[in-house]
Amino acid sequence: MDKILVTGGLGFIGSHTVVELQQEGFEVVIIDNLSNSSEDVVDRIESITGIAAVFEKLDLRDKSLVHSFFRKHKDIKGVIHFAASKAVGESVEKPLHYYENNITTLVYLLQELEKLDAANFIFSSSCTVYGQADELPITETAPVKPAESPYGNTKQIGEEIIKDVCKVSNKLKAIVLRYFNPIGAHESAKIGELPIGVPQNLVPYITQTGIGLREQLSVFGGDYPTEDGTCIRDYIHVVDLAKAHVVALQRLLNNSNKETFEVFNLGTGKGSSVLEAIQSFEKVSGVKLNYKIVGRREGDVTAAYAETTKANKELGWKTKFSLDDAMLSAWKWEQNIRNK
Ligand code: UD1
Repeated sequence: MDKILVTGGLGFIGSHTVVELQQEGFEVVIIDNLSNSSEDVVDRIESITGIAAVFEKLDLRDKSLVHSFFRKHKDIKGVIHFAASKAVGESVEKPLHYYENNITTLVYLLQELEKLDAANFIFSSSCTVYGQADELPITETAPVKPAESPYGNTKQIGEEIIKDVCKVSNKLKAIVLRYFNPIGAHESAKIGELPIGVPQNLVPYITQTGIGLREQLSVFGGDYPTEDGTCIRDYIHVVDLAKAHVVALQRLLNNSNKETFEVFNLGTGKGSSVLEAIQSFEKVSGVKLNYKIVGRREGDVTAAYAETTKANKELGWKTKFSLDDAMLSAWKWEQNIRNK
């Protein structure tokens, strides 16, 4: 049983990935600083898989703690690194917090990985690195555009750091996964997305409005050059996304990677507008959503959806779930956490 470290393993994508890893027979060690997650997720994961994961509360900004952690776990065979801050607006307000939390920690981790026998690394990146791509769907070779926010910048810089280290390291192998828009929740409704305060992302805002926690959803912009005037995104079910991490890790563990640094888009390949997302919610929930089209949100691109051929062929991975499936799972999760 290979031992895998999942940083940020109690968060939204991390927790779903821990479940998939355990179900594929990996031994998982989670570290998380609980800044945007809660410790009861450890039990929730166990209640799904029947397997206890080892959890250590640890802040990756503390270099000496990171060092002692790796000394204790010299047999780690791979690291999936989710731990990071991810709120775009907050990153504009607190750039140094984002650079410390997302970049300094990455450096500390890579320094420790270099000392291991097996330095296999999976990095959470984002389609935000493409900005408004000139061509759709977006391939991995599309140019990286200047970042719109410190958050986006940390993803770009993170990718560059890993690439530079891979060039000179005789050990490090890395896969960068550029997520499109992860949504939904585990079918058990035991784990899902738990935004703190007012949700910034569309789907949690929709489900919170549906359940009555928010009065109205603001649709940011109805005058985009798209069919219905609203932005287009590629919404991917978090369980599909989690499974991609497992196959990416297996690729490194089996040495089937073609290069020591590889990049994959993770999306469905299908773009949906904000209004289509709302329609999907209304269809699967039977709830009429109170929404209003308002002005555009600064920094939003018109359309982004993935070309998935590379991930499909090289990773042998394809999404299984539709937008409706993902929306229904998000709705069940929302109902479950509000005890409705
Ligand atoms: C956002 C981030 C992106 C990050 C991703 C992480 C921005 C500009 N981008 O992506 O960098 O990687 O989250 O999950 O913040 N919308 C509404 N009303 C709302 C919320 C959203 O109409 O209340 C619309 C947005 O305008 C957008 C779509 O829904 O068209 C999706 O928005 P969101 O879920 O925030 O994701 P992104 O902006 O694509």
